[in-house]
Amino acid sequence: MITHQVTIIPDAIDISVPHGENLLRAVHAAGVHVNSSCGGQGTCGKCRVRILEGSVQGGKTEKLSGDDFAKGYRLACLSTVESNLRLEIPPDSRLHRGVLDRTHAGSPTGRLASARQEDMAGIDLKRPVIEKKFISVDPPTMEDNASDLARTRRALKKQHGLSDIGIDYTVLLKLGRTIRENEWRATVTISNNCSGAICGGTFPHITRIQPGDTTGRHYAIAIDVGTTTVCGELIDLVKGEAIAASSEYNGQIKFGEDVITRMVFAQKKDGLYLLQKSVTDSINAVIDSLLTKADVERADISHLGAAGNTVMTHILLGLDPRYIRSAPYTPTVNEMPPVRAIDVGIGLPGHVRLTVMPLIASYVGGDIVAGVLASGMHRRDATTLFIDIGTNGEIVIGNREWLVTASCSAGPAFEGGGIRHGMRATFGAIEEIRIDPATCKPVVFTIGGERPKGICGSGIINIVAELLEAGLLEPNGRFRTDMTTGRLRQGRDGMEYVLVEAERTGIDGDIVITEVDIDNFMRAKGALYAGYQTLLESVGLSWTALDEVIIAGAFGSYVDIEKSIITGLFPDLPVERFSFIGNSSLEGARLAILSRELMDEAGAIAGKMTNIELSDHTPYMDHYVASLFFPHTETRNFPTVMERFKTMGRSCGNGKGDGT
Ligand code: FES
Repeated sequence: MITHQVTIIPDAIDISVPHGENLLRAVHAAGVHVNSSCGGQGTCGKCRVRILEGSVQGGKTEKLSGDDFAKGYRLACLSTVESNLRLEIPPDSRLHRGVLDRTHAGSPTGRLASARQEDMAGIDLKRPVIEKKFISVDPPTMEDNASDLARTRRALKKQHGLSDIGIDYTVLLKLGRTIRENEWRATVTISNNCSGAICGGTFPHITRIQPGDTTGRHYAIAIDVGTTTVCGELIDLVKGEAIAASSEYNGQIKFGEDVITRMVFAQKKDGLYLLQKSVTDSINAVIDSLLTKADVERADISHLGAAGNTVMTHILLGLDPRYIRSAPYTPTVNEMPPVRAIDVGIGLPGHVRLTVMPLIASYVGGDIVAGVLASGMHRRDATTLFIDIGTNGEIVIGNREWLVTASCSAGPAFEGGGIRHGMRATFGAIEEIRIDPATCKPVVFTIGGERPKGICGSGIINIVAELLEAGLLEPNGRFRTDMTTGRLRQGRDGMEYVLVEAERTGIDGDIVITEVDIDNFMRAKGALYAGYQTLLESVGLSWTALDEVIIAGAFGSYVDIEKSIITGLFPDLPVERFSFIGNSSLEGARLAILSRELMDEAGAIAGKMTNIELSDHTPYMDHYVASLFFPHTETRNFPTVMERFKTMGRSCGNGKGDGT
């Protein structure tokens, strides 16, 4: 077999690649990340690499300008290796891990959802689902030679009031030896009963026995299994609080960025195995980091709780997600009994059970159940709109009496997909701009203050709102052609606005936003708004009935509420009604681990949530079409935005621009 040497820079990695091998696959196999939103279909244009020496076959597509092609850029997924290569992965094709640790003091508008503290009043957060009990077992005598198990049960009843306790066979195997090891004193770990939805209706049973008293060393790990990131917390079950946090990108990203691409990949040979291994590798990395940070022994972990969307949950458990994808959209399970973490490939001792949050439907998963639990909206009289924005925008409306939910296919625009210079929210991504009303010139702000490399989702909202307010963009999403500013020009996708000139960017060229980008954003925000409207109508309510709007998710934490309202992404309600909840999926997973009562509540939330399938819902389609306008065709629902447009004059440079 002919092989070629491929040197990847700046990683300084040398790999040997068979002649004719796909370049993206080869680079991923070497453990080097290259963005590949479409999973290697050749449609997203995100896997750009630059050939510095040598040659590849293919890689030319309309996704690359002629200029870029001449400079040696190729799409890795469309290229095959034909010779030895020196290959550069440009900054815009990379992931930057450091951004995962970014802390956020709150959005420019809105507040943190502090009301949740009140909702949790009266909940005992030191009553975990998995508990440890120290016991002194009576040594046997000729008069009392009952079995070791009988005497263990007797001790649990007498010393802790626990009866009807079962025991795992694996514990039974070492019971006799362990209770004798430390003078008849031992610690048993008990997996408790809960509603049945999550715990599978099991009765309390012993999952572990240790000699002596280990009750002071009792930890759990909560994991949010996101499509993009895996976030974890180490929880001290004795103190009832999280003591360390860590995140990693979900290793599945290399197979595509959204759940649809992942499901398609799962159907390939070994696809499901590779996806499961990638996510468990990421979870294992998070666990390693948590244990190191808090200096906790792996053996002292008692429980692993995870929340994820339906597709992520299926893949984590090794369940085939194929039926989720097509009508009538059926998951394999909605409620899953605990499994041994080690059985799905997570490197924790055999006694550690993995419990996953119950799912609602194919596109409304355990992350939303956990989010609702963390928000406390299911405990309040007030009617709340809960929004988790991502490729799928999941929304819930309800209160203590009822909950309705839906998933809107927003497309990848909020994650930078389908946007010419879109990128994930990593260093160098433009997240905020201000357009000078006198000159039409923008001032851009990037994540980490680095040279601009592209635009992230929250940046797109900001840019569209600023362009609207400056009068450079019409409500129909078209640029004003009568403006004389040199920032507006004809590009290869029609009109575009230059955000940053090439010499000031961190990439090879100008950063622009095009009318096609704006169309994609308009469709994404329209899908969400139509979703809120449809859910409200389904329960016979209007916008004024919404007492509170909670924005969840990593993306949500960075959006500007006022700008989002201007674009029509959020309803035109007083800003004080909006709040952020951050990673509510992780928070919900943690709460359910800490409290048996809240674990039960998660099951109850899943049981009472009514899912509405929007895909074949005629009113939804009508609302969607009506929302393809800024802020919306029904301007009466956006009174403050319309007022703002009037007072702003919507015309930078008095309609003339800067003339440059
Ligand atoms: Fe190559 Fe999408 S175009 S991965």
